[in-house]
Amino acid sequence: MSKAPRKILVTSALPYANGSIHLGHMLEYIQTDIWVRFQKMRGETCHYVCADDAHGTAIMLKAEQMGITSEELIAQVSAEHQADFADFRVGFDNYHSTHSEENRELSALIYRRCKKAGHIATRTITQAFDPEKELFLADRFIKGTCPKCKTDDQYGDNCEACGATYSASELINPRSAISGAIPVNKESTHFFFKLPDFTEMLKQWTRSGTLQDEIANKLSEWLDSGLQEWDISRDAPYFGFEIPEEPGKYFYVWLDAPIGYMASFKKLCDNTDGLEFDDYWAKGSDTELYHFIGKDIINFHALFWPAMLSCSDFRTPTAVHAHGFLTVNGKKMSKSRGTFIKARTYLDHLDPEYLRYYFAAKLNNRVEDLDLNLEDFAQRVNSDLVGKVVNIASRSAGFITKKFNGVLSGNCTEPQLVADFVAASNLIAEYYEGREFGKAVKEIMVLADRANQYIADMEPWVLAKQEGQEQQVQDVCSVGINLFRILMIYLKPILPETTRQAETFLNDSLDWTSLDSILTNHEIKKFKPLMTRIEATSIESMVTASMEEQSQEQAATHDSNSPLKDEPIEAQIDYADFAKLDLRIALISKAEAVKGADKLLRLELDLGGEVRQVFAGIKSAYQPEQLQGKHTVMVANLAPRKMKFGVSEGMVLAAGPGGDELWILEPHEGAKPGMRVR
Ligand code: MSP
Ligand code: ZN
Repeated sequence: MSKAPRKILVTSALPYANGSIHLGHMLEYIQTDIWVRFQKMRGETCHYVCADDAHGTAIMLKAEQMGITSEELIAQVSAEHQADFADFRVGFDNYHSTHSEENRELSALIYRRCKKAGHIATRTITQAFDPEKELFLADRFIKGTCPKCKTDDQYGDNCEACGATYSASELINPRSAISGAIPVNKESTHFFFKLPDFTEMLKQWTRSGTLQDEIANKLSEWLDSGLQEWDISRDAPYFGFEIPEEPGKYFYVWLDAPIGYMASFKKLCDNTDGLEFDDYWAKGSDTELYHFIGKDIINFHALFWPAMLSCSDFRTPTAVHAHGFLTVNGKKMSKSRGTFIKARTYLDHLDPEYLRYYFAAKLNNRVEDLDLNLEDFAQRVNSDLVGKVVNIASRSAGFITKKFNGVLSGNCTEPQLVADFVAASNLIAEYYEGREFGKAVKEIMVLADRANQYIADMEPWVLAKQEGQEQQVQDVCSVGINLFRILMIYLKPILPETTRQAETFLNDSLDWTSLDSILTNHEIKKFKPLMTRIEATSIESMVTASMEEQSQEQAATHDSNSPLKDEPIEAQIDYADFAKLDLRIALISKAEAVKGADKLLRLELDLGGEVRQVFAGIKSAYQPEQLQGKHTVMVANLAPRKMKFGVSEGMVLAAGPGGDELWILEPHEGAKPGMRVR
């Protein structure tokens, strides 16, 4: 007797409705989709839901900037997101929005239950307020001068130049980043979720196999050092749900975002006969619930969310699976380098199955970052998928079609080889189940090598030229086709479209139970190439297109492409003021990362004898090796500044808005270290 299917509900994090899906996001949706497809093809009952995360100040401001309503913005973005996901073959069973009736009701229900149980507090807090926009300002909407190193134009929570973290009230000369107005302090009543009430519950929950070890360890440090109450309200104007019985107060976006998982599933239940919401969400339910998320949003999913659920009498997640971040060519995705690649831009140039395969081949179940190295990507896909897997079919199919009317041999002449392929299924299934996709892919490729070796050893193309070897040719190619079929079963969660085409070619439908049978006396269809090689030019065009999008976006938001619009030219100064600046040519004799500083590089600048140490906030833009040996221009008479990591004796000059878009100045050849720049 076969055992009853598991009942599984799976979610991916809800993407914000104020921007496009990019390849970093796709890492998560592809990872989740592969896992879900695996469960489904194994016969489990598995539902995969998601939604747009539609609330919050950022979305409200963006809509305003575009001259449309927030509702119009989120409708546009939702359509775009869903098209991207569909084209990447991410198979959600339902895609909803947090701005939905289901979510409004569930959020109110959960809030009311928490309140009734005594876990909601109210308190008056003082916050920065933009008197022009009449809006409370979160720290990231305030800019000013860093209180530590005095660099201008820093955001309200940390300094890009010296790496200091502080609160916005410590900024010198604070300004609203939205209107430029000077923020004032204003009082307001806020609502808090009493997270500390759940310390014991969370200590237990985080240690009960729900989290990856590295995460459980991190969280236990926090749990030991004491939790804080969580501010769950925002004042009008805010795009979100008004708190029941509290006019003018809104749920903070992160309160109703995870409830969006429930809301999307609720909607799926409403549209599906026999699917019951309570089976998956009621306390004590024996179904499984998994959240796939990125490492940046662990607190929300592993502290606030289980506490809220348990507070309001719902079940808690079976597990939260966090993944690391995507880098491209070894670095954070960068707009100016063209490696900040939108899902749509990728799709305009490349087949989604390539990326699904590459991510799968590099994914494991830990919280590690994953690098998309574009050269390795092409090489890996071409050699594994085109060179190995598809090749097995293309080497075998021609003979079967031409010589045997497309019909495979009546019996299998290599039962042991086929049995070995089938025997790998348990291990491969374990790897899929445990999110060790890279290990699964490795096993599959070992088999692909064996299949190719078998065909190479048997040389059907030689046999085909010999008298009386017909049966042998048919047998060898039939084995080849059967081995290919097994590989496609294993790859089906990763390559849904390639597998669909293979199913047409094999004239068969594939799921995990297909491993129990071998195709004999079976008619296959004409073979069409299932996949073509990645051309370097496609990748180049994608990168170029990404760079162009970036400059178009700038042009659109500033109605001119000129950086002058971004940073207007300052008030005029006298020559005497300029002459005070001692600018010198310097040789970067050494460049290195600074331990504990995200943004800084330590440079040694040779002024033709004298060597200065300078800490420069250019780490996001350069690897230290790229700078060593280059000449640049420095301000040589800047008063030395004591920083956390040492004394900085000057400044290097660089152009650009900052972050990873920064370019140091380099003089023409002939300018020697120490020369004055005038
Ligand atoms: N709206 C929140 C999630 C709410 S869930 C109740 C959010 N949205 S997001 O659009 O910023 O990110 C969506 C998911 O994509 C998150 O899990 C996030 O970690 C992931 N990623 C975003 N950028 C990423 C990379 N560069 N690399 C890998 N994952 C990334 O957070
Ligand atoms: Zn600073």
